Amino acid sequence: MASSETSGKPALRSAEWFGTADKNGFMYRSWMKNQGIPDHEFQGKPIIGICNTWSELTPCNAHFRKIADHVKQGVLEAGGYPVEFPVFSNGESNLRPTAMFTRNLASMDVEEAIRGNPIDAVVLLVGCDKTTPALLMGAASCDVPTIVVTGGPMLNGKQEGRDIGSGTVVWRLSEEVKAGKISMHDFMAAEAGMSRSAGTCNTMGTASTMACMAESLGVSLPHNAAIPAVDSRRYVLAHLSGNRIVDMVNEDMRLSKILTRGAFENAIRTNAAIGGSTNAVIHLKAIAGRMGVDLALDDWTRIGRGTPTLVDLQPSGRFLMEEFYYAGGLPAVLRRLGENDRLPNKDALTVNGRTLWENVADAPLYNDAVIRPLDKPLVEDGGMCVMHGNLAPKGAVLKPSAASPELMQHRGRAVVFEDFDDYKARINDPDLDVDADSVLVMKHCGPRGYHGMAEVGNMGLPAKLLEQGVTDMVRLSDARMSGTAYGTVVLHVAPEAAAGGPLAAVHDGDWIELDAYAGKLHLDIEDEELQARLAAHDPTQASRRIASSGGYRQLYIEHVLQADEGCDFDFLVGCRGAEVPRHSH
Ligand code: FES
Ligand code: MG
Repeated sequence: MASSETSGKPALRSAEWFGTADKNGFMYRSWMKNQGIPDHEFQGKPIIGICNTWSELTPCNAHFRKIADHVKQGVLEAGGYPVEFPVFSNGESNLRPTAMFTRNLASMDVEEAIRGNPIDAVVLLVGCDKTTPALLMGAASCDVPTIVVTGGPMLNGKQEGRDIGSGTVVWRLSEEVKAGKISMHDFMAAEAGMSRSAGTCNTMGTASTMACMAESLGVSLPHNAAIPAVDSRRYVLAHLSGNRIVDMVNEDMRLSKILTRGAFENAIRTNAAIGGSTNAVIHLKAIAGRMGVDLALDDWTRIGRGTPTLVDLQPSGRFLMEEFYYAGGLPAVLRRLGENDRLPNKDALTVNGRTLWENVADAPLYNDAVIRPLDKPLVEDGGMCVMHGNLAPKGAVLKPSAASPELMQHRGRAVVFEDFDDYKARINDPDLDVDADSVLVMKHCGPRGYHGMAEVGNMGLPAKLLEQGVTDMVRLSDARMSGTAYGTVVLHVAPEAAAGGPLAAVHDGDWIELDAYAGKLHLDIEDEELQARLAAHDPTQASRRIASSGGYRQLYIEHVLQADEGCDFDFLVGCRGAEVPRHSH
């Protein structure tokens, strides 16, 4: 049995299970052998966990058994032994009240599965939105060698000969139905054409964004973000990731060597360049928190603002992930940023042992329409806008690339909805006192208020305004929005209404001032009035909304942090390492 003294390699965690000729070693090995594993596999090979979010209820990740097989081939080839294990699968499209509600649950599953098992390193198979942060959070809290393999985006959606993008087309067509521009029949016809292959959303939604975040953080091999799910090169990448993770064990290349402050700065700049999802703001904070990296909401302003959006993908622009890959993918974007002095930490280490810049310095770029030059950007300044003010003391965010430039500075009258049900009940009421200059305000959709902070912030516009041709309005809430959505939407208002934030005190007709560029969000009432309203705020009303019936929901409500803190549980923040626990018998 190999030891660190004789091999010069780091000691293997798995040797604590399989490496002893005694009663314990017998037990650990013997039960594993019922799978047909020969004795030599237990003689000091790195054991590589393949952490799989496969599920038929997560359609975006439903092809992952095949990806796992290719990772296994790579692991075996490099001299490791692969063991695939399932973890909670956060499927965005089916899970209610929102997949965000169970992101932290999945992260706990991942963390404890890694720490408690005979695993020396992990390959994280991720795809659908929340699976990426959940697995990275769990792995970061353990700090073992880790590599991310993403499932890849779906092929372009097709309808009547045109490309249609995941999610984005749903928002657009549903408004066109309401505006009377298309029939319900045409709307329903898009359903099958939108999702016509394995993979994640093909827009720059949260799945694609988080895949790009992983690649720019350096925790995946180059090109991991964009290769389509059904492209054979996706399987090659899985195989090569399996090769590489074995070397990472031997090099003791743990996640903490890669997930540095510098890596997060690169990711923030990348998010602006790709027109990435607002969800990345929450997820990167949560991942950084697990790694012990200090990342503040205002870092998005300091580091991200001033960065042009180069990638012309829906929902901000025109194209889809297939074109993005064919144009050169994320390496081409990173090269373009780096050549123009926009990549803050070129020497950040990545999982292949090279720096981020070494990986992309020669990356080819094939299509300037999809990945635009800096002097012809999709949006001049695509960095996430972070706003503060008496309405959001702990901040709020807005994605400028998906917003209307003319609404970025706006003063309008509030039309207030107490919660999502209230919004749904009244938004299309012909008597609703609203016009195109109004600000739609929705409360009680934050982490505690909705139980998970649902993606309802991009409130559909009132039917009567859509019929008049209105296509965007300022919307404001403590909710999130889908990465596939668009509009001038102020999100993540913190503290949320259900936590007693000032959002709870907004009344119909109040004037709200937004200056997204200047980072200002102001409720135009006297401070005494604001305090008086908050003091009079009916706590029984609020507590009824967040009432708990025990179970995981109660844990969630009692421990979830606010949006500016990444919505992690207070007791999960930090890295607890992967010290081998005591024997089970
Ligand atoms: Fe799973 Fe979009 S719903 S990636
Ligand atoms: Mg999504």
